[in-house]
Formats: sequence, C-alpha cells, structure tokens
Amino acid sequence: MTSPLKNDRFLRALRREPVDRTPVWLMRQAGRYLPEYRATRAAAGSFLAMAKNPELACEVTLQPLRRFPLDAAILFSDILTVPDAMGLGLYFVDGEGPKFERPVRTPDDIARLAVPDMETELRYVMDAVRTVRRELDGSVPLIGFSGSPWTLACYMVEGGGSKDYAKVKSLALNHPQAMHQLLGVVTDAVIAYLSAQRAAGAQALQVFDTWGGVLSPSMYREFSLRYLRRIAQELPRGEDDARTPLILFGKGNGAYLGELANTGADAVGADWLIDLGDAARAVGGKVAVQGNLDPVTLYAEPEAIRREIGRTLDSWRDGNGGSREGHVFNLGHGMSPDMDPDHVAVLVDAVHTLSAR
Ligand code: CP3
Repeated sequence: MTSPLKNDRFLRALRREPVDRTPVWLMRQAGRYLPEYRATRAAAGSFLAMAKNPELACEVTLQPLRRFPLDAAILFSDILTVPDAMGLGLYFVDGEGPKFERPVRTPDDIARLAVPDMETELRYVMDAVRTVRRELDGSVPLIGFSGSPWTLACYMVEGGGSKDYAKVKSLALNHPQAMHQLLGVVTDAVIAYLSAQRAAGAQALQVFDTWGGVLSPSMYREFSLRYLRRIAQELPRGEDDARTPLILFGKGNGAYLGELANTGADAVGADWLIDLGDAARAVGGKVAVQGNLDPVTLYAEPEAIRREIGRTLDSWRDGNGGSREGHVFNLGHGMSPDMDPDHVAVLVDAVHTLSAR
C-alpha cells in the first residue's frame, strides 16, 4: 500500500517547495461530464448506490486520471455522508439536489446529535480510500475531504439546498448557543472523519466551506472561521515531509484569505472573484494557494482557455515575489455536467506547459 509516489508535485507545491511544473487537479473532476461516469452511475442505479460501493467509488475516482495527466486524485464521495451517518437520512431528487428526511430544527434535535463511528457507519468511505490507494499504486496522491461545519450545518438545518439560508441564519441569530452546540458536534465529527480518511490512506485533506461566503463578515468569523480554525488546530496530521497537508477552500472567502492563512492550515483555496496576485499578497507566503480559474472558462474556445490560464499563472507569480512556487492550479469552484472533456485536456496541458520551469 505504501509504494513511493511517482508524482509528488501536488504535495511539494502544498509545502511551497520547488516543482518542475505547477500541479493541477479540478474540483468535481469525477462527474457527469464524463460519459464513463454516466455509464457507471446508470449501472449502479443512483449516485448514492455508487458512492456507497467502494469498488464503484474507486472506479469513478480513477476515470478522470485515465484521460488527463492530473496531479492528484480526489476521493469520489460527498460532503453529506457525515450528516447522513448522524441519522438525517440523505436522499437525492433528480434535478433538485440533496435532501434530508430528518432535518435539524430545534435545540432538542441538536441535543440528540452524536459523532458517528467512522469504521462502522462510515466504513464505506474508509474502504473506498483504501481501495483507491491500492489501485493508484503511487501514481499520484489521493485527496480526502469533508464539508466545513458551517456548510454541513446549512444542509442539516435547511434540509437541502437553499436560496437565502433563512432557516440556518435564523437559528444562528435567534439561538446562537444552540447553533454553537450544533457546529461543535459537527466539528468533532469532521475532525474524526478527516483523521479516519488520513489513517485509511488519504495524503492530503480538503475542507469545502462552500457556503461560508453567504454570511456577513461578523457572522462568518463567529460561525464559520472559528470552526475552520479549530479543525486546523486540532486535526492531527504528522510532522515535516510526512505531514498531511490541509487545504481550506471557501466560496466567497476572498476577504478572509489573510485570516485563513493564520489558522494553521497548510493551504487556502480561492474562488475566481479574487485576483490570484492579490491572494498571494494576502497570504504573504504563510500558506500555499489553490485556484482559481472561473469554471465557466471551460465553455470557451481552447485559445481563450489557454490565455486565461496564462493570466492566472502570471498573476500568482507577480503577487508571489516573482516565484511560481506555492501554487496549485484548480478551478475557483466545481465543474458542471455539460462541460466538454476535450476542454479539460486543453486546460491540464496548458497549466503544465505554461508553468514549466
Ligand atoms: O471533486 C470530485 O470529483 C469528488 C467528488 C465530490 C462530489 N461532491 C461528488 C458529487 C465532492 C468533493 C463533493 C463535495 C460536495 N458535495 C460539496 C462541496 C463542493 C462544492 O461543490 O461546493 C457540496 C456542496 C456537496 C453537496 C452536493 N452533492 C450537491 C449540491 C449535489 C448535487 C449537485 C448537482 O449538480 O446535482 C451533490 C451530488 C453530487 N456529489 C454529484 C457529484 C458528482 C452529482 C451526483 C449525480 O451524479 O447525480
């Protein structure tokens, strides 16, 4: 299981060490834009049946890597596995996204929540990590992940996606103590979940704070950032070169990159609304930065894709004191089902070619 890595660009960049090219992977690189994904999902019957089967989760994790020379694999799973294991009953309605049968609404609901056991209730996730590590055979590192406490709480309280997050914001405003109790138990679960993925073989860990950016700054600091900091401080990740890096991605986190760089995380993920040179200046060399091409760029012609990638790489270098180190290329958010796989090939090639040292 522990064959040495053949391609460690991604881990080196996260440690801000020199690399021959800027590493690249893409959020939602495994997904519906790939016909082979749609075929596996159809055979499995549903997204959840596929995600809960370690062999199938491994298969779809590897699909994008067979097509493109990506520098990292990300486990095929979902952030909502954790609240599902806490008893909320995750299900999907076609075209409507994720839903919970038993959302959390009252202080009594919150008091009943407990941290699930990782090797029983979430065993299928850990088995998928072990299976993917075996099949990757050291070709590239494997990223494990979790939702942030705030983002998970959004789904748990709203019962699904939301336009305005009125229910979860009302809970935070009307019953801040209950909200902190909810975020506290979810943070304990996130730390246990990420630790278990690391023990099973994940070589880097990413937290998705997809909905932190819907909060006002004071509420962001109280209900999201505080718990991201707890994760960065309390998650055991080893020492020096053997350290498992932690990446904090957040949509709408541009104004907080400096504060995120001080949490103890190893890297921050930025969306496309901030210039990557400004992101470099905000983190001041304390952490690596991952990002941040506008995903919609993938709909454009290859020439425009290459131009925007060149711009992104150069912005980073200009803001980072003339050095390309400490940057992991990614989109500012995830891929969409109607994107063209040929354009992904253009992107990966352009990142590697334009960043070659
Ligand atoms: O990046 C990858 O390739 C790894 C897989 C991955 C999925 N979900 C697979 C998935 C990851 C990292 C996630 C995380 C996730 N899940 C987030 C945070 C990242 C983000 O996008 O901001 C969130 C908010 C969720 C919750 C979730 N799961 C939603 C909103 C949806 C519906 C999406 C849609 O477009 O229908 C899901 C389902 C889901 N998770 C799909 C995939 C590929 C689509 C399921 C399908 O095949 O129908």
